[in-house]
Order: sequence, then structure tokens, then C-alpha cells
Amino acid sequence: MRPSLIQSARDAADAVSAARRPGRTVGIVPTMGALHAGHLSLARAARARCDSVVVTIFVNPTQFGPREDFARYPRDLEHDLDLLAQEQVDFVFAPDLLEIYPPGYSTYVEPGTVAELWEGACRPGHFRGVCTVVLKLFHILPADLAFFGRKDYQQVQVIRQMVADLNLGIQIVVEDTIRDVDGLALSSRNAYLSMEQRQRALAIPAAWQSAQRNFSQGVNDPAILEAAMHKILLDAPIDHIDYAVCVHPNSLHRVTVAEPDSVLLLAVKVGATRLIDNATLGGATP
Ligand code: PAJ
Repeated sequence: MRPSLIQSARDAADAVSAARRPGRTVGIVPTMGALHAGHLSLARAARARCDSVVVTIFVNPTQFGPREDFARYPRDLEHDLDLLAQEQVDFVFAPDLLEIYPPGYSTYVEPGTVAELWEGACRPGHFRGVCTVVLKLFHILPADLAFFGRKDYQQVQVIRQMVADLNLGIQIVVEDTIRDVDGLALSSRNAYLSMEQRQRALAIPAAWQSAQRNFSQGVNDPAILEAAMHKILLDAPIDHIDYAVCVHPNSLHRVTVAEPDSVLLLAVKVGATRLIDNATLGGATP
């Protein structure tokens, strides 16, 4: 059955209050729509752990830079609702722009320092927009658990910090990255890639896999691991490397000695399309 579609914040709050009877849990899965198997895995995880599941669909303008793809970001609510019916999601909260940012809207969340690195440095204001909308969604839909993908590794760290700093009392659950059979992480932005660009994008998983292999063979100098990733990306060729680094799993600062729990963080451009990925250094090499 298709989930109920709710578009007003007040109706959403009412629906969640009704679902949140004593002893019953509500799970929220925030998304920007154009759903793929990665999003659906979050909905499935929420379904497995919670009595009621709400998926939010909102392309949040405040997390896009002025030269980014907000206007052309893929949107297909009807198709998304069909996909979510298969996951037995109870509600979809899909507000329009003015419901979230009415005229005169002027309050924003200043994210913690972990937001200054990597994505934050490449996309100024991005995490301010993410934190603002996620905090609003957490308030509109007071859920017990919120589900996020490891695919956006830094986003998870930034949100965890916000939840801790602002005493939000919601439990953050993180699920693994879902990939296509060829290893490319699923992303709504993969839809922008031509066949030829998609082929070149495979250098992204190839890069972190080679770092994992080098590490498993005893290389623990992050500079060598990063150089190996850069070489694979440049050979593809990837059009632009924003970063391909080996970082501490919590602080996201570059490490001086690579450890099994270090994280490889990558952001590149293939044509005009910006793609990100990450992997744990000591993770199993596919
Ligand atoms: P969006 O890019 O739509 O992603 C929604 C959620 O799906 C995020 O938690 C993201 O990490 C997860 N996700 C994306 N690709 C995935 C994959 N291949 N495997 C597993 N999970 C994946 O992230 C956002 O939206 C926004 O920033 C949002 C949090 C909704 C705030 O606007």
C-alpha cells in the first residue's frame, strides 16, 4: 500500500504524535527524493527497527550553493511513493518550499567544527543548510530513531555532533553504502552521468580499493595511500579531484599514520557532476 502523503508540518506532527504511543517507536528517514536502493535500504532498516516509519522528501535549497544543481536536482514524487509502498513506509512527509522556509525565514544552525573540513570547505554553507533542515525535520517529526547513510560520511559526523551539542535525544542509526554491481555508490546524481562518464566514475571505488589493498600489504603512510588514489583518479581520467584523503574516523583530520579504522574520503567531478564516496581503510576489499 502506498504511504500516506503529508505535506503540511502540522499534519505531520499530528501523525507522528498519534503513532508515538507509549512503547511504540517512530523512525525517520530524511531524503531529497529521486529514491534509489540506497534510500530504500534506510527505509527497510527503519521498518525492521521501528513501529512507524516516516520518510521525508524535500530538496532543501539552503544546502545547495548558488552554482550548484538545486534547480535541476531530479524530482519524481509519484515514483518515489511507489517505491516506498514496497518498503511498507507509513508516512511520507513531502512539504513544499514555503512550508519549510516561509517568507521572512531567518534562523539557521551553525554546525560544529567538523563541518569546516572537506565537504564544508568545498561547499561553503552546505552543512549549515543540512543541519538547519534536519533540525527542523526532527522538530516537526519527533521520532525516536533517525536513519542516515554512511555514503555521506561527513554528514553523519556533523549531524551526530549537532544531536549531542543540542541535546536532541534522537538516536542516529547509520547504514552501509549500497553500490551498483560495478562498485559505484548509488547516488541520485548518477542520473546526470553519460555512459562514458559513468565508466570513468568507476575510478572512484577503484581508488579506495587500491588504498585498502596497499594498506593490507603493509603500507601505513597516508601520503603513499593518497598518492595511489590520486594516480588512479587522474588516469581514468577524473575531471577534477576535490579531495582523496585518509582521515581519522571521528575528527576527520588527516592521519599521520594510517590505521584500520581510518577513513578514505573522496570527492571528485566527472564532467559537471560531483560525486562523493568513502570507505574504511581496513574494510574488506571487494
Ligand atoms: P539524500 O542525498 O537524498 O540522501 C538521503 C539519505 O540517503 C542520506 O542519509 C544518504 O547518506 C543516504 N544515501 C544516499 N546514497 C546512499 C547509498 N548509496 N547507500 C546508502 N545510503 C545512501 O543526504 C541528503 O539527502 C540530505 O543532505 C538530507 C539529509 C536529506 C538533508 O536535506
